[in-house]
Amino acid sequence: MEDFSSVSSTTKRLEGKVAIITGGASGFGENSARTFALHGAKVVIADIQDDKGMSICEELGSPENFSYVHCDVTCDNDVKNVVDFTMRKHGKLDIMFNNAGIPGNIDFSIVDSDSENFKRVFDVNVFGAFLGSKHAARAMIPAKIGVILFTSSNASVVSGESPHSYAVSKHAVVGLMKNLCVELGQYGIRVNCISPGAVATPLLTKAMGVDKSTVEEILSASSNLKGVVPTAEDVAEAALYLSSDESKFVSGINLVIDGGYSTTNQTYTKMIKNILSK
Ligand SMILES: NC(=O)c1ccc[n+]([C@@H]2O[C@H](COP(=O)([O-])OP(=O)(O)OC[C@H]3O[C@@H](n4cnc5c(N)ncnc54)[C@H](O)[C@@H]3O)[C@@H](O)[C@H]2O)c1
Repeated sequence: MEDFSSVSSTTKRLEGKVAIITGGASGFGENSARTFALHGAKVVIADIQDDKGMSICEELGSPENFSYVHCDVTCDNDVKNVVDFTMRKHGKLDIMFNNAGIPGNIDFSIVDSDSENFKRVFDVNVFGAFLGSKHAARAMIPAKIGVILFTSSNASVVSGESPHSYAVSKHAVVGLMKNLCVELGQYGIRVNCISPGAVATPLLTKAMGVDKSTVEEILSASSNLKGVVPTAEDVAEAALYLSSDESKFVSGINLVIDGGYSTTNQTYTKMIKNILSK
């Protein structure tokens, strides 16, 4: 990750911007909070992990610029509260990063899928993103500027590798992003998605039940792009680009960050090569 000395005032890409990051207490959200702060943004971390969220804010610096607000993204009042808090404290909202998400149960069979789990995954991943957008738009429309960003997943472009609940929820996030892009373009609000492939954040290590280095070994072995271990910083850099003015004419895209994994399926080619080499 970049250090403070490498980001001069002229290269700070979010100077003066105000951002809310849901799920900002861990993984991609935490790394984005750190990167946004490094680039001059005032950041409000919205999460349900209060101790982690508060300690990250303390590390980031002055309480004037960095705040933690308890916010369960499935609760309308909590999401309204974090937007109202931000408007009261900073007078504007430039970036709403709807990033909080859960993997749900790792059940791949439709027959065995638990219905309550399906609803819970939708509640956090889709309804939470909807609420974040709704309350952010309320603040951004009068200002006629803003960025709404979502974390979907490469499960939105490659199928059969995630449980149905998760895959469908991440497709829904892309659908929400596209529809909002059309509605909110008239107000100067850009709406985009990032879709990471697997990265060894706490979400994935917990879901797989193994430690970070084992997950990274598996990811490196199965990666299309060799020589790079995917990190949460890679995702934060993409979030930085889509939140900054460098992407001021980019709206309606689903930026996949997976080293080309979802672009290729070489199962057939490998089988043919195996047969021909015999
Ligand atoms: N790690 C991966 O491999 C991967 C790949 C693609 C997409 N994603 C997506 O990236 C996003 C971030 O995941 P991560 O890997 O950083 O996971 P993570 O578990 O490290 O972080 C997720 C954060 O979201 C918070 N959260 C969960 N439920 C919440 C709720 N109801 N309200 C508010 N906050 C809540 C958690 O407390 C946590 O701090 C998720 O949407 C996830 O689906 C992850």
